[in-house]
Amino acid sequence: MGSNMCPLPSCRLCAVEGGSLQSNGEMFTLLAFLFLLSGVFSAPCAKRFFPPLSANHFVCVCNATYCDEYEEPSLSSQSAIIYSSSESGDRMSIRTARISTIKGKRGVSGRIKVDPRVTYQEIIGFGGAFTDAAGINIESLSDSTRDKLMQTVFGNKGSRYSTGRVPIASTDFSKTRYSYNDNAGDVKMNNFALAQEDLKYKIPLILRALNLTGGDLRLLSSPWSAPAWMKETGKMEGPGRLRKGLEGAWAKYYVRFFEEYLSHGIPFWATTVQNEPTSGALPDYGWQTMYWNSTGERTFVANHLGPALAASKAAKNLMIIALDDNRFWLPMWANEVYSDPVASSFISGVGIHWYLDLISPASKLTATHNAHPDKLILATEACAGSNRPHHSPAFGEWSRAEGYARSIIEDLNNFVAGWTDWNIALDTEGGPTWAKNFVDSPIIVNSTADEFLKQPMHYALTHFSRFLRPGSKRVQSSTVDIDDVRVMHTAFVFDGQRILNILNTVDTEYDIVIEEASGISINVKIAPKSVTTVIWKKQLMYQ
Ligand SMILES: *[C@@H]1O[C@H](CO)[C@@H](O)[C@H](O)[C@H]1NC(C)=O
Ligand SMILES: *[C@@H]1O[C@H](CO)[C@@H](O)[C@H](O)[C@H]1NC(C)=O
Ligand SMILES: *[C@@H]1O[C@H](CO)[C@@H](O)[C@H](O)[C@H]1NC(C)=O
Ligand SMILES: *[C@@H]1O[C@H](CO)[C@@H](O)[C@H](O)[C@H]1NC(C)=O
Repeated sequence: MGSNMCPLPSCRLCAVEGGSLQSNGEMFTLLAFLFLLSGVFSAPCAKRFFPPLSANHFVCVCNATYCDEYEEPSLSSQSAIIYSSSESGDRMSIRTARISTIKGKRGVSGRIKVDPRVTYQEIIGFGGAFTDAAGINIESLSDSTRDKLMQTVFGNKGSRYSTGRVPIASTDFSKTRYSYNDNAGDVKMNNFALAQEDLKYKIPLILRALNLTGGDLRLLSSPWSAPAWMKETGKMEGPGRLRKGLEGAWAKYYVRFFEEYLSHGIPFWATTVQNEPTSGALPDYGWQTMYWNSTGERTFVANHLGPALAASKAAKNLMIIALDDNRFWLPMWANEVYSDPVASSFISGVGIHWYLDLISPASKLTATHNAHPDKLILATEACAGSNRPHHSPAFGEWSRAEGYARSIIEDLNNFVAGWTDWNIALDTEGGPTWAKNFVDSPIIVNSTADEFLKQPMHYALTHFSRFLRPGSKRVQSSTVDIDDVRVMHTAFVFDGQRILNILNTVDTEYDIVIEEASGISINVKIAPKSVTTVIWKKQLMYQ
């Protein structure tokens, strides 16, 4: 390409991967694209570096007047759009690559083959949790910074979260332990009332999120514990079961929760039966929990929760999700809860958490799907920094971004339909948490400076939440000459687009050819330690 064709003073931006321009249409697309890149709309990451001081440890800082945004140039049929985030410095950086109708070039590191004719599960969504901690942090910001944060998470130029998990009453990420009904013996739930935390820290933010997403937000709830008087131990925290005979009252408590939220304009999509029910058997467990084993959960749903929700006005179409605990318990838990046809008629799927993944292979997910192909599997909670010695935020730490992307790709490739993160935002200490269970979050609020920090994890999750819209369908992807433990990948189709996400877990650059079964190919360089999203249009030759 001659320099006289370059529309910008600096020709750096004119380098389009894959060769020279051939048609006027292509030139037009390129000009339109360069216009987007030329700074009219784009807002890059405002980097802040952290020790160990190297180019690799940084976050992107947003405040009342500034936040980096992600562009969405329109897609042509001649080129693919590539977004990448990497340890060495990219954050949703955008470029294009030519789509070639000839066989991919030789001499590359390897190939990723995508076959849209072979389809798997459909996406439900990606998101995070409206915990009290998240709400307290977000509400501590000025109106304009808070708006930037909500735009970042739910907005069109942000992560476009499509799921939100809402705790029913308090969790370890609350400032205190509280329930919605502390009146011992009130089995009719006459004194049920939402807490100040709902009214101040959850409902206003959920309403804003519903507005920003145009209602395209699937809300799912989970209780951590019944009120203290309803538990055998008389305490919300620590192990223990629901007191016998209170199953009907406990089911009524869920229904009242959905009625109250609906009266504030918030409809729910699903509820889990119980957050991490197996933690309720651990003798030294530190915070709110309540024990169910799979048989107990099955009976409670069949006889109480299922019928109570179905008979209610506010929650009659709600989906019920079992387990909501580590995948370690699969496929046994699913086999047990689905073994009773009545329970199975109420239960749409199982929720999984990532905390014991190292000792429970992802093949358990596929085994669960194969045994129950008409039921869902959803990742309902994950967070980094939950283990000592790094029991707190790690600013700018890429390995945590890689952990998110690895878990998401592994889950998606084993029939999981979505992935919901834990706290949407935490403070610089990783709280507040009355239980001192400080952890990390993709967004850290620094309220003394009226700013928030976007951790590398935020970008890793955005590569999925932003592009894999609800209804996207996973399709077959496979590698040739690349080790797919080092270069993980997952491919989707949605609305005439192909979306391929690639995680490079090693310090090597790869020069890859993507080959779609239709005969087209795209040459893409994959940076060391990076997450890359490649999006291209379905080609006319291949309907
Ligand atoms: C907000 O961030 C922008 C970009 O980093 C910076 O120029 C500006 O000074 C910041 N404003 C405040 C009040 O810190
Ligand atoms: C969001 O709120 C604005 C301002 O109140 C309103 O104009 C708009 O219609 C709302 N959008 C949706 C999708 O609810
Ligand atoms: C659950 O606990 C009950 C009561 O202790 C027991 O009968 C049942 O076998 C347990 N279920 C499983 C799957 O362990
Ligand atoms: C939070 O803001 C304060 C200034 O108010 C600053 O000193 C501190 O370094 C910031 N914390 C982080 C983690 O960036």
